[in-house]
Amino acid sequence: MAKKKGEGYLSAKESRRIAKENRKITDKLEKQHKRKNVPEEEYRTKMHDFNNSLEIDNLHTYFFSDVGVVKAVDGVSFNVPLGKTVGVVGESGCGKSVTSLSIMQLLQRPQGQIVEGEIRLNLGKKAYDIPKVPIEAMQKLRGNHISMIFQEPMTSLNPVFRIGEQIEEVIALHDGEGKTEADMKARTLELLEMVGIANSEGVYSMFPHELSGGMRQRVMIAIALACNPKVIIADEPTTALDVTIQAQILDLLRSLKDRINSSIVLITHDLGVIAEMADFVVVMYAGRVVEKGTAEEIFENPAHPYTIGLMASKPVVGKKVDKLYSIPGKVPNPINMPNYCYFKDRCEMAIEPCSGEYPCFVKLSDTHEVSCYRHYKDNGGEE
Ligand SMILES: Nc1ncnc2c1ncn2[C@@H]1O[C@H](COP(=O)(O)OP(=O)(O)OP(=O)(O)O)[C@@H](O)[C@H]1O
Ligand SMILES: [Mg+2]
Repeated sequence: MAKKKGEGYLSAKESRRIAKENRKITDKLEKQHKRKNVPEEEYRTKMHDFNNSLEIDNLHTYFFSDVGVVKAVDGVSFNVPLGKTVGVVGESGCGKSVTSLSIMQLLQRPQGQIVEGEIRLNLGKKAYDIPKVPIEAMQKLRGNHISMIFQEPMTSLNPVFRIGEQIEEVIALHDGEGKTEADMKARTLELLEMVGIANSEGVYSMFPHELSGGMRQRVMIAIALACNPKVIIADEPTTALDVTIQAQILDLLRSLKDRINSSIVLITHDLGVIAEMADFVVVMYAGRVVEKGTAEEIFENPAHPYTIGLMASKPVVGKKVDKLYSIPGKVPNPINMPNYCYFKDRCEMAIEPCSGEYPCFVKLSDTHEVSCYRHYKDNGGEE
């Protein structure tokens, strides 16, 4: 068969060479992760601002695949203030889940690796730099200080164990010291009631397939909250649910957040959910943050053409349109990113400098930043 040498084509030899090179890099990083008895000083760090519970600073997470390096997250920075909700939006594949998996150190390894950047987690009296935390110590942080609600409850719950057992396992692992079996059951029932499950005794002895989608999602939330984490990462917590259940789950998250004063990182592509829940918004595009600000700033004064496009593509009640706006074109290939602004080829507002280097951030207010040439002072924009 004639072989076609086009874009995206790799010979077996080339693919083997890439795989070998990748292995060299990932083996080195893996060795670092798996070390035992690492002294705490090695992963201790200082928060830049003590009012933040989490600071993500220039995070680069790559997947070393056999067809090349996928730069899934390529220089993401944002802060999560104590007790606040930060919404992360962006279209499918822009790196939202990879960012949250990086924070939890739950990337698919060895291919998935954090190659650069810091994630500073505030533990009260001290702070840790998550990418440097070895596996052993990370297990203690997950659940206790930071926990995650996953997008798909059916794949996250174990189908062969009863709900009660699954929640108790988490309590036993992270917070089980000195607790008797009766204590654990009482705590489990309390958690089930806290997430609004009326028949807590019944659900305690059910299997995941015996619950509805909304109930499973509540169980996931109960598991995530079992040990009162300071940071909750919710990755599309309501996407699989219908709108009434969605509203209930969001209410629940909000009231729980207030009760245990945690911070939430809320990942979703539903702008309505963001408007309702978030104090701050981070807009991601192709592995980078393109704009961030308070929810008010982003909704009332979106500055990046991508954010403006997102706002325009959202249906508005009472406004009749022939066709909903959709942003033209598609996201560039993450293996082969251009060296100019990643959004330029889809941008309807592009100007001449956009073909130059990737734009750096411009401050529009103390909290509002955008990476777009249209806002550079010498282009007539406001700085
Ligand atoms: N295990 C993996 N191996 C290789 N590439 C991966 C892996 N996981 C994710 N990626 C790539 O990383 C990029 C970001 O994916 P991610 O899952 O973070 O997207 P997302 O923003 O969460 O999208 P969605 O809204 O669809 O959930 C994508 O290009 C994806 O193909
Ligand atoms: Mg995702």
